[in-house]
Amino acid sequence: MKKIYLDYAATTPVDAKVFKAMLPYFSEKFGNAMSVHSFGQEATEAIDKARTQVADFFGATASEIIFTSGATESNNLAIKGVLAAYYSVDHKNNAKPHIITTKIEHHCVLDACKKTEKDRRAQISYIAPDKEGIISIKDIEKAIQPNTILISIMYVNNEIGTLQPIAEIGQMLKRINIKRAEKKLPRIIFHTDATQAVNYLNCNVNDLGVDLLSMSGHKIYGPKGVGILYIRKSTPIKRIQDGGDQEYKMRAGTHNVPGIVGLGEAISVISNQQPVISKKIQSLRDYLIKKVLAEIPKSYLNGSADKRSPNNANFRFDDVEGEGLILSLDMEGIAASTGSACSSSTLEPSHVLLAIGLRHEQAHGSLRITLGKDTTKGEINTLIKKLKEIVGRLRKISGNVLSEFK
Ligand SMILES: Cc1ncc(COP(=O)(O)O)c(C=O)c1O
Repeated sequence: MKKIYLDYAATTPVDAKVFKAMLPYFSEKFGNAMSVHSFGQEATEAIDKARTQVADFFGATASEIIFTSGATESNNLAIKGVLAAYYSVDHKNNAKPHIITTKIEHHCVLDACKKTEKDRRAQISYIAPDKEGIISIKDIEKAIQPNTILISIMYVNNEIGTLQPIAEIGQMLKRINIKRAEKKLPRIIFHTDATQAVNYLNCNVNDLGVDLLSMSGHKIYGPKGVGILYIRKSTPIKRIQDGGDQEYKMRAGTHNVPGIVGLGEAISVISNQQPVISKKIQSLRDYLIKKVLAEIPKSYLNGSADKRSPNNANFRFDDVEGEGLILSLDMEGIAASTGSACSSSTLEPSHVLLAIGLRHEQAHGSLRITLGKDTTKGEINTLIKKLKEIVGRLRKISGNVLSEFK
């Protein structure tokens, strides 16, 4: 059976060009970039090249790019590092620092925020999205307090693919920060988790108006275990991991040279292909959504139809368990997901689907299909055919047979 992979938001295969670029750095060019000899210099040169490739894509300077082990680490560094910088200075009589984030962030952001709350180091506001899965700029503005130091909002949601108005929030913050400077209030730092955005959207940090941006190699046809945190020059942030002086003393630990080389190459490939790939994937995604909603009764699209990532379709089917769907699709050789790869091992309904107002049983009946650059129309047609059969069968088993399936 030829397998069909439709879980590209969980991870992507390494692009052939990326793999080729990485290979020498596992064996013949294996030096540690911190060594002074020629082996070390070779590794340093490779890292410098990758840093420039990444910086060019984000419209940043090379020294603003910090290589990490992935977006989980980058997000932790962004949140905990900004807090660490705040506490490294004496803030006499100041209230506890305040952070604004949303209810639909990836667990690594939410859990980092919850931890700082539990440790009584920060006060957090979790902004709810509307029922389309979009965060309102007004709600963010209303949540700002004199002691707000950080706003962290994802660019593209990993479960329902909704696009958040990052550039608009960036503009609003620019205005607000000017006024705050006059009042001698702390500047609000703006962080975005762009992990699911890099493949398809403009991620120029100046267009977005962000100070910090996280992303990950394995979501963009690069290797796993490598990512970046973009840190705008003069952003107050301290490292959170002790050890060596790597990455401008911002992230201790021996460089993952093959991974970094791969990330740089993956970004270069995207720079050349982004508009063409986005268009192709979006038209397949639109075809999928149209067919599923037309041909499967009581099926719905979760999240905004237009403000969503070109590769994401998240459906729910009344009277069907998402887990059953995933397992049945897997038996047919089709890989899909109920939500984020990290939380799909728990039986808890998705926090994102609950946040957009779905009931528990609706959130349990959801299916995330994410397309990639190798997805074909033939694969989408097979998925639609199998999905119709499986949804009908599962409804029959649960006693919820709809006339169309009798
Ligand atoms: C939006 C988002 N943020 C963060 C992460 C974590 O990325 P990594 O696997 O690189 O730690 C993911 C991965 O699922 C994600 O989709």
